[in-house]
Amino acid sequence: MKVVEVKHPLVRHKLGLMRAGDISTKRFRELATEVASLLTYEATADLELEQKTIEGWNGDVTVDQIKGKKVTVVPILRAGLGMMDGVLEHMPSARVSVVGIYRDEETLKAVTYFEKIVHSIDERLAIVVDPMLATGGSMIATLDLLKAKGCKRIKVLILVAAPEGLKALEEAHPDIELYTASIDERLDEKGYIIPGLGDAGDKIFGTK
Ligand code: URA
Repeated sequence: MKVVEVKHPLVRHKLGLMRAGDISTKRFRELATEVASLLTYEATADLELEQKTIEGWNGDVTVDQIKGKKVTVVPILRAGLGMMDGVLEHMPSARVSVVGIYRDEETLKAVTYFEKIVHSIDERLAIVVDPMLATGGSMIATLDLLKAKGCKRIKVLILVAAPEGLKALEEAHPDIELYTASIDERLDEKGYIIPGLGDAGDKIFGTK
């Protein structure tokens, strides 16, 4: 698995702001979008280009265009929605595939309770977004689902990743690429990432 910890100063700075214990919902939401946007910039650096001749101000001019343009953004409910706009900012026509997963407290298995995947997923690059990669359970289940539907190319954007989640993901899906603003220290006994951001869903939606 290709793992890129993006060390760009803007990413480091903005993520540092997100770690403040007293951050407002508004600010957290804005920063989640901004960091997602910067991660998108890094993650799309290898998109293929093709040339096209268009009519310019002084006659024909040959310009570069992204080839195919077939991308689907995949936010994992609910916190992933907080990163979606940061990706769409750069690819406003991208289709959105939404996945909802919860963990059954008895079996500890990831259960898909909602999925709406765009058609022809086999021809698209999927950019999966979720702010926190903790144990990796819901990400692994999402990638299992996308692959079962025929998706062949997947990039994952994460704000903060735990080493435990990265290891689990590497074992389950060694073929994907992952971009994160930080690889933090560890998970605590409740499954929170340390130092982390706290509950990213609650912070994005203002539910705590
Ligand atoms: N989900 C969160 O929102 N935060 C964590 O630290 C771990 C999982």
